Amino acid sequence: MSNTIWSENISSPIDSARFSDQTQAFETTRAVSFPSPTLGQLLKSVGDVSKEESGDETPIHHALDVDETSLIEPRALPFTLSFSNLTYSVKVRRKMSVSRSLSSNNRLGTASSPLPEPSPGGNATTRTKTLLNDISGEARDGEIMAVLGASGSGKSTLIDALANRISRGSLKGSITLNGEQLESKLLKVISAYVMQDDLLYPMLTVEETLMFSAEFRLPPSLSKSKKKSRVEALIDQLGLRNAAKTIIGDEGHRGVSGGERRRVSIGIDIIHDPILLFLDEPTSGLDSTSAFMVVKVLQRIAQSGSIVLMSIHQPSYRIIGLLDRMIFLSRGQTVYSGSPANIPTYFADFGHPIPENENRTEFALDLIRELEQSPGGTRRLVEFNTSWQKMRRSRRFDVASPSPGSTLKEAISASISRGKLVSGATNGSSPTSMVPTYANPFWVEMAVLAKRSFINSSRLPELMAMRFGTVMVTGFILATVFWHLDSSPRGIIERLGFLTFAMSTTYYTCADALPVFLQERYIFMRETAYNAYRRLSYCLSHALVSLPALVFLSFSFAMITFWPVGLAGGFSGFVFYFFTILASFWAGNSFVTFLSGVIPHVMLGYTIVVAILAYFLLFSGFFINRDRIPKYWIWFHYLSLVKYPYEAVLQNEFQDPAKCFVRGIQMFDNSPLASVPDAIKEKLLASMSSSLGVNITSSTCVTTGSDLLKQQGVTQLSKWGCLWVTAAWGFFFRILFYFALLLGSKNKRN
Ligand SMILES: Nc1ncnc2c1ncn2[C@@H]1O[C@H](COP(=O)(O)OP(=O)(O)OP(=O)(O)O)[C@@H](O)[C@H]1O
Ligand SMILES: [Mg+2]
Repeated sequence: MSNTIWSENISSPIDSARFSDQTQAFETTRAVSFPSPTLGQLLKSVGDVSKEESGDETPIHHALDVDETSLIEPRALPFTLSFSNLTYSVKVRRKMSVSRSLSSNNRLGTASSPLPEPSPGGNATTRTKTLLNDISGEARDGEIMAVLGASGSGKSTLIDALANRISRGSLKGSITLNGEQLESKLLKVISAYVMQDDLLYPMLTVEETLMFSAEFRLPPSLSKSKKKSRVEALIDQLGLRNAAKTIIGDEGHRGVSGGERRRVSIGIDIIHDPILLFLDEPTSGLDSTSAFMVVKVLQRIAQSGSIVLMSIHQPSYRIIGLLDRMIFLSRGQTVYSGSPANIPTYFADFGHPIPENENRTEFALDLIRELEQSPGGTRRLVEFNTSWQKMRRSRRFDVASPSPGSTLKEAISASISRGKLVSGATNGSSPTSMVPTYANPFWVEMAVLAKRSFINSSRLPELMAMRFGTVMVTGFILATVFWHLDSSPRGIIERLGFLTFAMSTTYYTCADALPVFLQERYIFMRETAYNAYRRLSYCLSHALVSLPALVFLSFSFAMITFWPVGLAGGFSGFVFYFFTILASFWAGNSFVTFLSGVIPHVMLGYTIVVAILAYFLLFSGFFINRDRIPKYWIWFHYLSLVKYPYEAVLQNEFQDPAKCFVRGIQMFDNSPLASVPDAIKEKLLASMSSSLGVNITSSTCVTTGSDLLKQQGVTQLSKWGCLWVTAAWGFFFRILFYFALLLGSKNKRN
């Protein structure tokens, strides 16, 4: 019981020898040829964990005799992550009713919790809730530090704070790595964060998911086969061999089990061998063997020279054996901090000795819960912990020197030269410039993103089939309703109606782009938060990937409507018609994608999309001509995305100068005189001719195509001009989408 926290730290090379027999062979060879192994090297010696999983016997934690040589081997420079006096509060708004204020006063009086306290200077409805209260500690490479506590005690918050996921302004206290303040840019590159939820592409298999992660995170200098073997090793390491070819799955598709999914989530974040690894409850929802396996993998990562920090609920006895340090939280305060071995002494000193045969952490957590509910609260334990820590520290100084001894830059470059941080490294003067921000150039990222998205959508053919079906059904209805339109005055009105409807249909069918990004949004945020790829690459590949489908849909729609309706212009007219539809599909798709980047909710998104598209249609120029739109609304006419493709196809339709649309006798077609016999119409024409002084016979052309265009107010842009403007809108909204992602994916708590 006399071993202090410190002596445990020093013993980490010995700890690292706590491996199975199989690893032992590896360790001895390693001792001669390498310094302590990195994850990549350790992954080669896959064995005990997956064996333990497949076999029936309970995994045994082998103790290993270490010979002297492995103790004096050249060790990598140590990393120490220190955090001190971390305090984080949020403002909570609440309506103060009399009964509420009474009950909360009562609660304040009885509980020791410092949580809800009135903010100084704040009004009665705003209260400050302290989620983390003066938390200090230290984590070292080679070790797993676990944060424990009841639900709501602040575990996730502490992990978030350490992983730089809380904005600097709100978090008080300091976090240093080897004594240096951590820049967030550097932290992003050397660390990884595994969140509590699994955010994965449902239609990719386990192997593909890990492979894509490898392609993002590992540099192009590493060959494809090397990446592949790394993935294979990781699969074995995580005990995922049996599930390697199974899709991840979601609510609609049965895929891997929850525990397997959890392990995949961990796998994608450790593929590049980060120096700092943060995990929020990596073992939640796993059975005890799987949970043990996960922690075992984490131990291995730690031993490869990383700092592993995780929160954990109710660790089993075997898992506790793998943990090196623990922090127990209660309502945001530290109630114990130290190694698992010291828990019995600590609680004995506190006056609550742990009975024999009792699980230490369970006892501790139960006691903490009891104290929380008691009138005095955990205050006494918090104070006891502070004094206990002080006493330990004073004793510790007699034993060893506490300084890590190496600067951050030295430690990182030592790690890199040992093969860690596989994202590749350059020589730079500061730690930040030593490690590239992104592992790959952007075209590689784009290619990988495009490939992933193609695979994912090709496994969901019903989605594409639905889109195709919608477009074809609309096309079919339009084609049969407007079958072979003639060029009579009525035919012209029908043509106008058809063209407006066809152009707005292209926009409405684009609404399906909305859920596509919303579904990916959190995956995107998770991946970009730790620099898996650039946001720009995502935007570009997102646009590129959507294009083939749009081309296909445009072509089908153009084919099914152009000839059946009898549109003008022959083949060249068809080509222009096709391009206009494609441009409006593109503009609509970009517009909806942009909205999905701004509005994070599907239902809200649909409502807004449908409403805006309706306004676009209203102001397109079909329902009300430009010259009749009130001055104060004319700006919306120019914003209308439907206006441009509508005018483009209109010009395509009525551009032929030789074609006549209304002849003398047809002038009466849309008037009350329509039913008058032709002979009388001819007489009317004759009398009109004599009074006007112009000869109008029944076959004289009174309205040409260009007259029609003028009537419709289509006079400002040429048809190609309209086409380009439509396409430009598409690009414009893609740029806006990029900025929406840039600003909207901060992924930090305030
Ligand atoms: N924005 C916020 N406003 C008010 N209270 C908050 C806010 N965010 C978190 N909390 C509270 O902070 C406390 C700590 O939350 P945290 O997520 O860290 O708990 P936890 O220990 O991880 O719990 P669990 O084990 O259930 O995951 C909880 O009581 C939670 O309700
Ligand atoms: Mg949590």
